[in-house]
Amino acid sequence: MQILTPAAIPSHIAIIMDGNRRWASQRGLPRAIGHASGARRVRQIVEACSERGVSHLTLFAFSTENWQRPADEVSSLMSLLVNYLQKEICNMHTNGVRLKIVGDLSRFDQRLQNLMASGQALTSNNSKISLTIAANYGGRWDIVQAVKAWQATNPAVNLSSLDEAGLRPHLSMGHAPDPDLLIRTGGESRISNFLLWQMAYTELFFTDKLWPDFSVALLDEALHWYSARDRRFGASSVHAQRAK
Ligand code: IPE
Ligand code: IPE
Ligand code: MG
Repeated sequence: MQILTPAAIPSHIAIIMDGNRRWASQRGLPRAIGHASGARRVRQIVEACSERGVSHLTLFAFSTENWQRPADEVSSLMSLLVNYLQKEICNMHTNGVRLKIVGDLSRFDQRLQNLMASGQALTSNNSKISLTIAANYGGRWDIVQAVKAWQATNPAVNLSSLDEAGLRPHLSMGHAPDPDLLIRTGGESRISNFLLWQMAYTELFFTDKLWPDFSVALLDEALHWYSARDRRFGASSVHAQRAK
């Protein structure tokens, strides 16, 4: 495969890591094993993105709707999140990863909240890659919480003065540019309430591969696919403008 120039690499990749339960059921394994296998993929993909010069990576780990799953599955997902953070925070710090966790974290137990806070504090000055994990995150929740946060910081200002630029810093992803590329594994072609505001002009790459089988080779395939997109943002094509 042709080597991509740094300019062709997306600054921000978002990933919907989907398909863990189907991966497990295809093998006659419990769902929790599918989730654990999915979690083991994460380190390699963070490292590969970092090596390729991606500056922001955002992973959808748990949606606001995922609480509707059976209690034992939710609890195994929570344990995995705790284990993942316990195991990976030191490694992230060594590798220059800045960790950020977005979502309504108040619903998580105190131990998990403390772990999230300490991981973010420890890695806050790192700059090789910014890794955002979306946990108890929903795009609709994000927009509503941002409006409330805007109102709280501008109590004397009428809501009619709110505009896009004013709202943006209050959204959960205020620390990152909008994603250039979304990758969704697992064969579904939908957004499932992920970064609704931020993905207005994101290029969407869907693959049938289930998340535990996602590989660096497939990441590279997505990057090559992305490099051939003509991003117009509603304006004229860059190529058409050059041809003028
Ligand atoms: C993604 O895999 C992980 C989470 C949503 C937490 P799923 O658990 O959705 O697995 P499938 O899509 O049902 O196979
Ligand atoms: C999206 O996957 C959420 C995460 C990967 C965390 P889901 O499996 O929850 O989405 P749907 O139900 O297929 O839309
Ligand atoms: Mg799913």
